[in-house]
Amino acid sequence: MRVVVVGTGIAGLIAAYRASARHDVVLVTKAELAESNTKYAQGGIAAALFPDDSAASHIADTLSAGAGLCDPAAVEVLCTEGPQRVRDLIALGVEFDRDASGELSRGHEAAHSARRVIHAGGDATGLAIEVALLRAVRAIAVEVHEHTFMREILVREGRVVGIEAVGPTGAALRIDADAVVLASGGAGQLYRHTTNPAVTTGDGIAAAWRAGAELADVEFYQFHPTALAVPGSPLVSEAVRGEGAVLLDETGRRFMFDVHPDGELAPRDVVARGIAAAMARQGGKPVLLDATGLEREKGAGFLAERFPSITRVTLENGFDWTREPVPVTPAAHYWMGGVRTDLHGRTSLPGLYAVGEAACTGVHGANRLASNSLLESLVFAWRAVDALESVEERSAQPRASRDHVSTVLRAGFETPPAVAPQPAVCPTRADIQNLMWAAVGLERDATTLRAALDTLAGWTVEGSSVPSLEERNLLDLARLVARAALVREESRGAHDRIDVPETREEWRHSLVWTLQPAVIA
Ligand code: SIN
Repeated sequence: MRVVVVGTGIAGLIAAYRASARHDVVLVTKAELAESNTKYAQGGIAAALFPDDSAASHIADTLSAGAGLCDPAAVEVLCTEGPQRVRDLIALGVEFDRDASGELSRGHEAAHSARRVIHAGGDATGLAIEVALLRAVRAIAVEVHEHTFMREILVREGRVVGIEAVGPTGAALRIDADAVVLASGGAGQLYRHTTNPAVTTGDGIAAAWRAGAELADVEFYQFHPTALAVPGSPLVSEAVRGEGAVLLDETGRRFMFDVHPDGELAPRDVVARGIAAAMARQGGKPVLLDATGLEREKGAGFLAERFPSITRVTLENGFDWTREPVPVTPAAHYWMGGVRTDLHGRTSLPGLYAVGEAACTGVHGANRLASNSLLESLVFAWRAVDALESVEERSAQPRASRDHVSTVLRAGFETPPAVAPQPAVCPTRADIQNLMWAAVGLERDATTLRAALDTLAGWTVEGSSVPSLEERNLLDLARLVARAALVREESRGAHDRIDVPETREEWRHSLVWTLQPAVIA
């Protein structure tokens, strides 16, 4: 069987590596092989690997963070299979940090009830994983297409038959396949401030959408509380707060305990909103992350040793965080929504699989628990490969259950909306990002969302260059996120509707979107 894998982060590399044992694998990435969101992951990978921890506890924490919207079956798979998959990752050559006795070192992150986040290179976990997996993939027979942009997923008679791409020279390229595995990541570039690299334009999710696959939970975009408040919004890992760093407003006050009893280690959405509110009170100025106490408590040199990448980035931006608090701000970080899958990465479109951030497996619900994303990529990419053989079957099992009902909505953004016809406006990427940040960001309300949808409806992207194609994807996804955020009339997890602040039991279900005729799952 010929399998095209799109994307080269942890999910894509695991899928390519494992699939190559039985299939012809073609690995496609729009950048160079080593570029992906994985490469920038700092905190680590969460798994119940230690005797004082349990899968049951990891499950409970994941469900609690997910604010009632996780698929319990998916969470159980994640947390019970996770520890073995991490051991598999170690066998593939990933060297996690260890203490003096050779035991895995472990960090703490918000909303975990145990220290279970293992890391590598201090705060360069993603890079260590990427490097080891690239080494493994380079040692096997995989056809690689770098600088090759997937424009569309090709569907014939209701099943996926390959992809259409733009090659390195700009020429169109068709790659036929029996199965396509999307591992193409999220869409942090939807927002003005994001911790994600420039490649994260949601290309796989947008192409899957246009091909007719179901998307789910798209209104839930997670904002990381602490990006360094400088251009490029580099991440300052939650693990820094896990070690004891504190958040201060401009008067030097620790404000997070006004918001939540867990203070700086409250769930991520709570901390992000607490910071946004504090920033609003001080005229938009960033708040401060004070890690100087760690140097005093844990010894001089602790920050440089435990967090070498963050130390380097802060210094590059003119801050010595061993001596002074550094300015931080929330930034778009992770998309809980994506292409809806079953427990084996199968989407609603036969022959199409989705893994990693491009997928919505149901493990994150309304709010992802820190350091569960590398684990999700690993566990579900592994499982997706096991399911490739069943490519002939009508795929995704509806995940509807008594506790997890999905409402499927039809949305046809390709057709002009019923508003007074206006000449189409071609937005810049920054226009899309600014609108999304202002109207579909940490806080939303119906009036602003309606206005944003009207603006988005009047925008169009033309051109066939890769940047234009990326912007077309961002525009398609922006419309979808804004529409979903308007439809969900409650606040839950990362979706904060200031006009409907309460969480409503009748909304404890996923919204599933498709271009296909509507069905109720
Ligand atoms: C971080 O290091 O804070 C990010 C970890 C994550 O997003 O899971």
